[in-house]
Amino acid sequence: MDENISTKENSTTIHILPEELINKIAAGEVVERPASVIKELIENSLDAKAKNITVEIKDSGKELIKIKDDGLGMTQEDAKLSLQRHATSKIKTDEDLFNIATLGFRGEALASIAAVSKLTLTTKQQNKLEGYKIESIGGQIISKGIAAATPGTNIEVKELFWNTPARKKFLKTDSVELRHCIDIVTRYALLHHNISFKLIHDGRMLLHAPTTLDQKQNLLSIYGKGLEKELLWVELIDEEAGIEITGFIAKPLAAKTDKSYQSYFVNNRYIKNQTLQRAVYDAYHSLLFVGRHPVAVLKLNVNPKTIDVNVHPQKTEIKIEQRDLVYSAMLKAVKDTLEKNSLVPKDNIGSTQIELEAKVPKPIVPETSKYQFEKAEQTVFEELNTKIEENDFVVAETNVSTEETLTIKETIEDRSEERRTFIPQTEKAAIIEANIKLPEMRILGQIHKTFFIAETPGGILLIDQHVVQERVLYERYMQEYLNKHIDVQHLLKPELISFTATQTVTVLKHPDTLKNLGFDLQHFGGNDFSLATVPTLMGRVQAQDLLEIIIKELSEGKIHELERIQEEIITMMACRASVKAGDTMTIPQITKLLKELSECRLPYTCPHGRAILIKITAEDLEKKFLRHG
Ligand SMILES: Nc1ncnc2c1ncn2[C@@H]1O[C@H](COP(=O)(O)OP(=O)(O)O)[C@@H](O)[C@H]1O
Ligand SMILES: [Mg+2]
Repeated sequence: MDENISTKENSTTIHILPEELINKIAAGEVVERPASVIKELIENSLDAKAKNITVEIKDSGKELIKIKDDGLGMTQEDAKLSLQRHATSKIKTDEDLFNIATLGFRGEALASIAAVSKLTLTTKQQNKLEGYKIESIGGQIISKGIAAATPGTNIEVKELFWNTPARKKFLKTDSVELRHCIDIVTRYALLHHNISFKLIHDGRMLLHAPTTLDQKQNLLSIYGKGLEKELLWVELIDEEAGIEITGFIAKPLAAKTDKSYQSYFVNNRYIKNQTLQRAVYDAYHSLLFVGRHPVAVLKLNVNPKTIDVNVHPQKTEIKIEQRDLVYSAMLKAVKDTLEKNSLVPKDNIGSTQIELEAKVPKPIVPETSKYQFEKAEQTVFEELNTKIEENDFVVAETNVSTEETLTIKETIEDRSEERRTFIPQTEKAAIIEANIKLPEMRILGQIHKTFFIAETPGGILLIDQHVVQERVLYERYMQEYLNKHIDVQHLLKPELISFTATQTVTVLKHPDTLKNLGFDLQHFGGNDFSLATVPTLMGRVQAQDLLEIIIKELSEGKIHELERIQEEIITMMACRASVKAGDTMTIPQITKLLKELSECRLPYTCPHGRAILIKITAEDLEKKFLRHG
């Protein structure tokens, strides 16, 4: 028999849990991490009509979260009640539950937060002379009384989860928790241009979004002026359906490498909702490159009766009654905006990209549709036909490379005199000297501005020009990096770069890493930096774009993975800086590049492991032509 089961007769095994424990359980759902505390407290300040909200945290919110507002404040009685569960001033009847006009309504946030922290609440109503202060530890009020205070409410949450160690263990690294904190303040700052938000971490101001004239200025003050020319206003009002959508999106080329630049608000509440997000992506459709995400700050207003916010205690999920209607409205709103700005052909999004074509950089991966015959500008065959005389030819040795490391097909035996290769003297420069690693070859030219073609003993070689460049740059850059001597180029005029608060935190955390990679960033204050140097190898690549990707890698990687991340960054930089398929190259340029390749440690694959060259043997060709030796 199981000893744990009580067998005593007449004893009850069911009992009502003590209030304290109930609050701890509820806290588990409402308060997941420091950022959830910030979210609840900001929402309370907004419900109290605050105009200035300052969030101050220490140790990513683990040690202290302090929120000060200049809102309505509370009476003494309300202040005492506010820490109790199910105490709310916001709804009274069940009818109200389906017509919610405030952010809070469940009356459990303060009680839950108090249950798992050491909380001090100080509050004063606008026209009162004195304020009121309550201190609680783990939800138990330990002191209360009149106190000096400025109008509004000030809540300090110390040592979050001090009494729920299991929950504390689930917290992520400091930088991840901090990112969540920045994220939630940013969302609400984006939503309210007429409210000033500040976020201070360990004494440093991470975000300051002052009151601005309009939404656009507000957005730019948070995401940086760099977006100014990219923003498009979105507006759709469908009175019949009771749907109103307003906000900003950015042009497709300003798309980002992650989703954090998207915020969706429903009835002034920040929410996560698949339907809305899908509608936006569908509207951009093929205008986005793989791995790119739109910038979108969009507000949807609907009749509160048609949505249910009471799906989850954190209130970031909602159920929308007319989901299809909302999807179509959002799709239309964004699509119309893109069309109006001539970013897509009017009738059919995605099937053609006429106007976009000229502005968009070519994707790295060549598409088969691009392979139309194009008269080469420097083809060797032309030269051969016109310039070369009989006596210009010399017989070249046909040393077949026996190098074992070759990954290419090496099946040729030198069968007869006929197989000697004739090489025009004028083209001698184009012969890659017998290198232990690369097969001997004579460059014939470039096809489709994408591949090099060369003659090699026993056949022809096809070489992917982008991949060659990638390998060369990767090895050179890696070498420079390992020698701690990245060749940098000083910009004539330092480039001004504004990052987001999250990115700024990462940049300030890894100044040496970025410097060692060749980026010399000076902090201006706030989220503004000036960029003085870029790695010479980067050439014409846009620095900000690349920095954003590097910063993302750095912020997501663990510290002990720094080596791996750095390798990834270098791989990516090499790829970005490489000649794209589609660049015309002359024979001397090709020769130079292949010489550099031959000096590489691993000249047969790109840093991602793709093959650089493939060989087609003369035998293969004979078979194709049905010739019999
Ligand atoms: N910053 C604040 N300013 C004024 N009143 C507040 C503030 N924070 C909380 N309150 C009061 O405390 C009550 C309880 O807050 P909370 O536990 O978050 O529940 P809810 O927001 O769901 O009502 C609120 O209904 C409100 O009356
Ligand atoms: Mg609340």
